[in-house]
Amino acid sequence: MSHYLGIDIGTSGTKTLLIDAAGNVIAEADATYPMEQPQPGWTQQDPEDWWKATVKTVRAVMRKSKCNPADIKAIGLSGQMHGSVFLDANDQVIRPALLWNDQRTAAECDEITQAAGGRKKLIKLVANPALTGFQAPKILWLRNNEKRNFDRLAKVLLPKDEIRRRLIGDYVSEVSDASGTLLLDVVNRKWSTALLSKLGLDSDLLPRVVESDEVTGTLTKAAAKTLGLTTDCKVVGGAGDCAAGAVGNGVVKKGVLSTSIGTSGVMFVHSDQPQYDSAGRLHTFCHAVNGAWHMMGVNLTSGGSLQWWVESVLQNLAGLSGKDVYQAATKEAQQCPAGSNGLLFLPYLNGERTPHADPNARGAFVGLNLTHTRGSMTRSVMEGITFALRDSLGIIQSLDVPVREIRASGGGSKNPFWRQMQSDVFGKKITTLKVEQGPAFGVALLAAVGDGAYKNIQSACKATIQVADQTTVDRSAASGYNKLFPIYRKLYSDLKDSMHSLSELQ
Ligand code: XUL
Repeated sequence: MSHYLGIDIGTSGTKTLLIDAAGNVIAEADATYPMEQPQPGWTQQDPEDWWKATVKTVRAVMRKSKCNPADIKAIGLSGQMHGSVFLDANDQVIRPALLWNDQRTAAECDEITQAAGGRKKLIKLVANPALTGFQAPKILWLRNNEKRNFDRLAKVLLPKDEIRRRLIGDYVSEVSDASGTLLLDVVNRKWSTALLSKLGLDSDLLPRVVESDEVTGTLTKAAAKTLGLTTDCKVVGGAGDCAAGAVGNGVVKKGVLSTSIGTSGVMFVHSDQPQYDSAGRLHTFCHAVNGAWHMMGVNLTSGGSLQWWVESVLQNLAGLSGKDVYQAATKEAQQCPAGSNGLLFLPYLNGERTPHADPNARGAFVGLNLTHTRGSMTRSVMEGITFALRDSLGIIQSLDVPVREIRASGGGSKNPFWRQMQSDVFGKKITTLKVEQGPAFGVALLAAVGDGAYKNIQSACKATIQVADQTTVDRSAASGYNKLFPIYRKLYSDLKDSMHSLSELQ
């Protein structure tokens, strides 16, 4: 029987999933790795760690499932978006990869905007403004700051496409992840030779680009041997983790929107045409659905804020450790009423993308008084993360994009307390799936489509994804949140100058 692997190269670790053609999850495995922060706002990783995690997790699912290697017909790849793997002419990694949440490229974003002839013209070329996390400013950063490294540069790949190179021995990307480089003509789904030439970058630096369900190659002999698979195993395009997660949530048609709380927070909506927020606050990218697009708002430190609060601040709460600290902390948060007794948290711990596009934004608790407790602070962290997602929802709704259903995924969907909070903050019914497996599941389905098991990704989603649960709005909590949200929104502009002065001291 045909089986498919989905591999997701995340920021904190890699997850590999094995499914059968009916979409049943047969086995899964995770492996973690560190993220370097050599300076505040700088983030990087060693691509070798991703490869080791890929090998480890693929071997683990093969061992656990006892699946015959010949039955693994195709692999789908997903990963953290926007990162830059810099390779020399011998495919050696030149320096650690800069990641999606790296903030060192503000000057290069200005350089790109100017070279394009201004923000409006840039959006016309690549559908998006220049944002610090995107890949193109990272290439310019290398040129401006590490000339020797830039002179060795032969190829730049996105994280999952570096893993693909090691699997099939070829340089290939696909449209959803390529959209986040800022070098793709998103409307026409091909590299923007116009922008490349304005930036003085050679198009040979980039891989070829295909649709997400296309087969990009088969495993090399060496990769098949290392992974314990066969050289007949195909590798399909796959998708950046946001589009892959949306596919895994069945967000492949109009009217369905998804929220995902991982390290980052994502509000994602399918669109049959490329649509733009004129202020450029939302990203307009190609979807992993052939011939479709998506818009999304991204918060850089979403689940990452809760992780900071629980792991760096609360640490060994009441002698607990690991997951138990999260459970104890959210239990305390539940004892505090909605609105955290007038305490607000701004989750801009590493700058912010949507809606502020500000690398120097910083986090804050505002409104503390003597009655606030650890529980109120944990609750306000969770509420601040959820308000940040509501900012994106507001922009999406202002574009007249129909929102019939919101599907929650990631950390924010597993906990009923957080699901209820999302429903109340958004004022919308929240649905969750029977089996929620995120991006790795989405790309395993794309692998099944690439192998011909389904006609297209919409039919694969229809056959395999079922809604399990619905959370409805608690009107009283929602009306409290409606009063707090405008105060939350105003705080960024009230505090912006102070945030910037403080970030200079950090
Ligand atoms: C999306 C983004 C993040 C990363 C996280 O634009 O930057 O969601 O993809 O993995």
